[in-house]
Amino acid sequence: MNFELKTLAQYDLAHEKTDALLVFLTSAFHAGKDALSVLAAKALKAKDLSDEAGQLLDIHRPAGLGCTRVVLLQLGDAKLADMRKAVTAAVALIKSAKPQKICLHFANQPDDALLRCAVATLADASYVYTTTKSKPEPRSLERVMLLVADDQPLRAGFERAVAAVTGIELAKEWGNRPANHATPSLLAQAAEALAKLPRVKCKVHGPKEVAKLGMGAFMAVAQGSDEPLRFIELSYTGAGKATPPTVLVGKGITFDSGGISIKPAAEMDEMKFDMCGAASVLGVFRALAELQPDINVVGLIPACENLPSSRAVKPGDVVTSLSGQTIEILNTDAEGRLVLCDALTYAERFKPRVVLDIATLTGACVIALGAVRSGFFSRDEALSKALLAAGESAQDLCWPMPLDDDYAEGLKSNFADVANVAGRPGGAITAAKFLQRFTDKYTWAHLDIAGSAWTSGKAKGATGRPVGLLLDYLMALQGVDKAA
Ligand code: BES
Ligand code: MN
Ligand code: ZN
Repeated sequence: MNFELKTLAQYDLAHEKTDALLVFLTSAFHAGKDALSVLAAKALKAKDLSDEAGQLLDIHRPAGLGCTRVVLLQLGDAKLADMRKAVTAAVALIKSAKPQKICLHFANQPDDALLRCAVATLADASYVYTTTKSKPEPRSLERVMLLVADDQPLRAGFERAVAAVTGIELAKEWGNRPANHATPSLLAQAAEALAKLPRVKCKVHGPKEVAKLGMGAFMAVAQGSDEPLRFIELSYTGAGKATPPTVLVGKGITFDSGGISIKPAAEMDEMKFDMCGAASVLGVFRALAELQPDINVVGLIPACENLPSSRAVKPGDVVTSLSGQTIEILNTDAEGRLVLCDALTYAERFKPRVVLDIATLTGACVIALGAVRSGFFSRDEALSKALLAAGESAQDLCWPMPLDDDYAEGLKSNFADVANVAGRPGGAITAAKFLQRFTDKYTWAHLDIAGSAWTSGKAKGATGRPVGLLLDYLMALQGVDKAA
């Protein structure tokens, strides 16, 4: 799907043939003399379209216009939530007609946030997964034109939004693929494919290299499966060698059965989404290659399956992590922190400015925050502020969670330096406290995306979050090094 931003002056509204013309009206709307605004003014006057935000009016083959249909969208005070609601409803409305070319016409000049929201929502609402369907019916939309009075002040935000969409859709694709179509090796191939893009490189380590490195915690999770693990290392180099990179670590459990501490059968299929952290890292690299910012970024993905077998790690087993710390694995279903801790130690070698890990880590985070906000944990105030702000600007929200040392009490072990689980209370926080033990050497934040990375039920599917948040966080680092 191709997005274009144009000024109204560049575009002949009356004659251009499009399958649908979506017109955004706000309370600031004043009708001009052109056919379209006369139509809109009439609809408003007759109350065919009310003043209530989120309302739509579908008009077929309007006289004097080249489009097949006009959909008027009432945005009222132009709140982002109403933009989301209206665009989602409009896409649902026109979908069955299989439109190929549509126009989004802003009757009033939108701000950056409103325009970005329109792009993101349109892409999200029209997304279709096809990879494992025998008769795929892909998204019909090919061209989406956004028409505004003045494109210049919106150009950068527009490009950011379009790049975010490519990243989000890559993350959705890999998140949605069933585990037998998204093995650790296939995930590594997806990362290698990204290395064809400018400034992106990729190195993939297999079981032998990972054993040689000494990643005993990661290997313990992988040992129950015949599917070989992969440790994926991506880099995006947009700044000089002396510029420290931001390291993104994505949990890449391509299927989490729980291992010997096996999960109940209900909804276990959803544990194919347990690599959504990894998918978000792939998505971010895709978007970075598009935007070419002058920053350095490293992506680390420990990828494996968590399965029970006669060779699987057992509750009570003690393993030695790359950091040298020994870990008593009391619950094999707390595997995410085991693969992440070794990747976090590996991250030290990049002398990073910041390390962010992104993981579908705990069911407890779903209980704490639901699907609206991802949870984040950090002791660094500036980083916390930046993450919160990036969540807002990308409309990919997150919320700070605590890291008090008292939460680590339950991780004490009689047989190792640390246990991999504490009790049920505060489960998202105790998981973060476990990870924190491996992050002494740098500034760190952990994002628990267990609630936000996918939707359950009828609309089951990956959301592509938090690609938008991460991208806005990274883009804000541009020029910072030079200024310092
Ligand atoms: N991948 C799961 C977390 C998860 C569960 C995400 C449900 C989304 C929905 C993780 O590996 C896990 O199993 N965590 C356990 C930890 C527990 C054993 C301490 C959990 O949350 O139950
Ligand atoms: Mn698990
Ligand atoms: Zn898991």
